[in-house]
Amino acid sequence: MSDNHPQLNHIYHGDARQVLQSFEDESIDCVVTSPPYFKQRDYAGKGQIGREKKPQQFVDALVGTFSEVHRTLKSTGTIWVVLGDKYDKGRLLGTPWRFALAMQDAGWILRSDIIWHKPNAMPSSVKTRPTTDHEYVFFFTKSQDYYYDADAVREPHVTFSENSKMMGGRNHFNKRGGTPEQGKNSGNNNLHDARWDQAFHPKGRNKRTVWSIPLSKFREAHFAVFPEKLVETCILAGSPEQGVVLDPFFGAGTTGVVAERLNRSYVGIDCNADYCEMARRRIDSNASPLFK
Ligand SMILES: C[S@@+](CC[C@H](N)C(=O)[O-])C[C@H]1O[C@@H](n2cnc3c(N)ncnc32)[C@H](O)[C@@H]1O
Repeated sequence: MSDNHPQLNHIYHGDARQVLQSFEDESIDCVVTSPPYFKQRDYAGKGQIGREKKPQQFVDALVGTFSEVHRTLKSTGTIWVVLGDKYDKGRLLGTPWRFALAMQDAGWILRSDIIWHKPNAMPSSVKTRPTTDHEYVFFFTKSQDYYYDADAVREPHVTFSENSKMMGGRNHFNKRGGTPEQGKNSGNNNLHDARWDQAFHPKGRNKRTVWSIPLSKFREAHFAVFPEKLVETCILAGSPEQGVVLDPFFGAGTTGVVAERLNRSYVGIDCNADYCEMARRRIDSNASPLFK
C-alpha cells in the first residue's frame, strides 16, 4: 500500500507486481491489457510472466498481479483482459477459463466473456479440428455499481431496416407517439425495453459479445499487439473522459495510444526496458502536434 498517485501518461519499467505496490488505493478507472500467454513467447524481462511450467502456476501469477490491480482500482472501475488459449500435445489447455474462474474465486465479478473473432487469423495446417480464430476478452468489475457507457459502444441494428413496417419502423423517431411504448401499441407487453433497444434505439443496438476485429501489426514489435479498435471499445465503455487507464503489460503501448486519443490518461508498466522505449516512441509519434 502506498500514498503515491501513479504518474500519468508515464511508462514504468519493472515487474507489474512490484510497480503496482507503489500506487495508491483506488487511483485507476479502467484496465485494458493483454498479458503474456502461457508458454507463447520469451519477453526477456526480469520477472516476466508466461514461462511457468504448469498452467496453474501461470494462472496464479496472473491472478496475483490482478490482486494488486484490485487495490489500485476505483470501486466503480472496470477491467478488460484479453487472453488466448494454447494446445499442449493435442490437448486444449483451457487457460483463459482457468484464469477467469480463479479471478472469480479471488473476488472479482465476471460481467462478460467476449469472443474476439479474428477474421484474418493465421491459417493452420490442422485437419482434425476446427482452426482457432478467436481469443477471449474477460470483462471484470470490483463491485456491482461500476461505470459502463452502453451508448458509447452501440452497434448497428441488423434485425429491422429503416423501412421496416414493424411498428412504423424507425421513421417514428422524434414524432409524437414515436416509440413503440408511446404509440398505438403502448401497453403491449411484447414491446418491452429489450425489443425497443434491439430494433429502434437511435444509436444502434446494445453491444454484443462477439467482436469481429482484424489483427493488426506494429512494425517495430516482434510480438502480437492488440488492435486499436478492440482497446477503443473497452475504454469507451469502461472509463469516463479524463479517466485513468492502466495497462500493466504495456508491450508496444497500444493502450496508451488509444487512451490519449480518447481523452483519457494512461499508466503503462512493462518488465522489458526496450519495449518501454518502443512504446514511448510510438505514443509520441501518434500524439497530436499540440501535445508533442
Ligand atoms: C502480449 S504483450 C502486450 C502487448 C500489448 N497489448 C500491445 O498491444 O503492444 C505482453 C507484455 O507483458 C510484458 N510482461 C511480461 N511479464 C511482465 C511482468 N511481470 N510485469 C510487467 N510486464 C510484463 C512483456 O514484456 C510484454 O511486453
